[in-house]
Amino acid sequence: LAQDNVFKIGLILPMTGQQATTGRQIEAAAKLYMQLNGDTVAGKKVQLIVKDDTSLPDVTRRLAQELVVNEKVNVLAGFGITPSATATAPIATQSKTPEVVMAAATSSITEASPYIVRTSFTLPQASVALADWAPKNGIKKVVTLVSDYGPGIDAEKFFKERLQFNGGQVVESLRVPLRNPDFAPFLQKVRDLKPDALFVFVPSGAGAAVMKQFIERGMDKAGIKMIGTGDVTDDDQLNDIGDGALGVVTSHHYSAAHPSAMNKKFVADFKKANKGLRPNFMAVGGYDGMRVIYEALKKTGGKGGGDALLAAMKGQIFESPRGPVYIDAQTRDIVQNIYLRKVQRKDGELYNVEFDVIKDVKDPGKSK
Ligand code: DHB
Repeated sequence: LAQDNVFKIGLILPMTGQQATTGRQIEAAAKLYMQLNGDTVAGKKVQLIVKDDTSLPDVTRRLAQELVVNEKVNVLAGFGITPSATATAPIATQSKTPEVVMAAATSSITEASPYIVRTSFTLPQASVALADWAPKNGIKKVVTLVSDYGPGIDAEKFFKERLQFNGGQVVESLRVPLRNPDFAPFLQKVRDLKPDALFVFVPSGAGAAVMKQFIERGMDKAGIKMIGTGDVTDDDQLNDIGDGALGVVTSHHYSAAHPSAMNKKFVADFKKANKGLRPNFMAVGGYDGMRVIYEALKKTGGKGGGDALLAAMKGQIFESPRGPVYIDAQTRDIVQNIYLRKVQRKDGELYNVEFDVIKDVKDPGKSK
């Protein structure tokens, strides 16, 4: 095939290392999208080029550069963690290549380049809903525990500000390193402080370790509840955590138990294509990211380069497995429902069962 008739998507993901589950989920979702929608769009053959950045931002930047210069990709996509997304931003800007962020979730990412479009979520978006719910449900005194980088700092700040506005109090804010965290000394501190609840943000893949240590230390029996954004009760790991997770309330944009017809089909298709693996919120970010790319290609016919593609990504409005969403044309960030969910047993498995919804939530972290 002539180069002209190929449309290349450079998908940079952590396929190995601490964030590997994010890569596995997003790659599987992107492949599923292509399987269900074909690999020919507007007369072009869509080619997915997957690269493993091991979640090191220097590697992400080098891979992005190679994909743009050597492979002449039409779109850069993926980005498992915030530092990877921001490291690539200057390359997206200089080469006028849309950068579709499918995972990373620090509010400011979309401001790092006018070529960034996001299909994941932001931590302010997810955190604020929980800070509205908590004080109405007997949780007034809270300790926060977050991974010490962009999304964690966003979660800490927005949760705390909103909780205080609602008459609650954050008595201590603890930060753990992103790499190889040891939660034990932090949890001991929380036990001594005896808050009504511990609010947690850790990235996808790290939730099971925190929850298991929380349970082992008898924190819940000591009357301390765990709450957090849905990253901690990640669908990828929830069944491994076990019954100790029952009752944990989180706020997030996606649950595999979301009861729409579209999601039921998505979960069934995903499991069938991936030996029973349950899709998590990363998978949905990847699946919807592919949707945004496919529709932009359809609309432009592949003409007009990166600027035309970017324009066709802005303002897209569609039903996702998570519910109704749109790409805000001004901020290029996703607007979506945020759900309150409680871990419950359903059909013999653990799920985040949705019990309330805040509709069409824009990222509260944007100043304009
Ligand atoms: C980020 C990574 C995650 O795995 C997650 O669940 C949320 C945010 C990030 O680095 O932006």
